Amino acid sequence: MKVLQLKQLIYISKEIALFSKSQVDALVSSSQQKNKALKITGYLYYENGYFLQYLESYNHKSIDLLMNTLIGDRRHTIINVIMNMSNRTRRFSDWSMRCIQKQQLTDISMEGKLIDCMESLANKASLSSPEEMKMWYAMDVIANHKKYFEVE
Ligand SMILES: Cc1cc2nc3c(=O)[nH]c(=O)nc-3n(C[C@H](O)[C@H](O)[C@H](O)COP(=O)(O)O)c2cc1C
Repeated sequence: MKVLQLKQLIYISKEIALFSKSQVDALVSSSQQKNKALKITGYLYYENGYFLQYLESYNHKSIDLLMNTLIGDRRHTIINVIMNMSNRTRRFSDWSMRCIQKQQLTDISMEGKLIDCMESLANKASLSSPEEMKMWYAMDVIANHKKYFEVE
């Protein structure tokens, strides 16, 4: 039996022009329909001019297609990407895209940890494997608190 591999990707990018909160929200809602069609799930976090986005899909071509679109999007510049394949299940199976908030991360003691992840991803061309593991682990912790982020 063929086991489906989940393609998981985290990237960090820097905005070109300033994004307001309502522009980030609009970006997330416009992404949701397209991601549904592409069978991509994940979340977006915006902090101080930087985006961290987590994307996952069993449809690898969908992720590649979206990444090409994102690379060409002149509203931001992608600084670094890490990618992983595994036979695990989706972390965010019902989030076609969700904007997670700083306060929500603070409440689950993850704000500092995610900022650390963003800093190492932004400042290092390649991460050591413990550093990468830390990033995937941070995604797991956020996923374990999924219900919490769904409370508006
Ligand atoms: C930080 C950031 C994250 C984005 N995330 C997504 C996303 O998850 N899905 C998506 O369809 N578009 C996303 N976009 C928008 C795409 O880059 C692109 O503008 C959109 O998909 C429309 O592309 P199209 O006109 O080629 O269909 C994102 C843009 C930025 C700047």
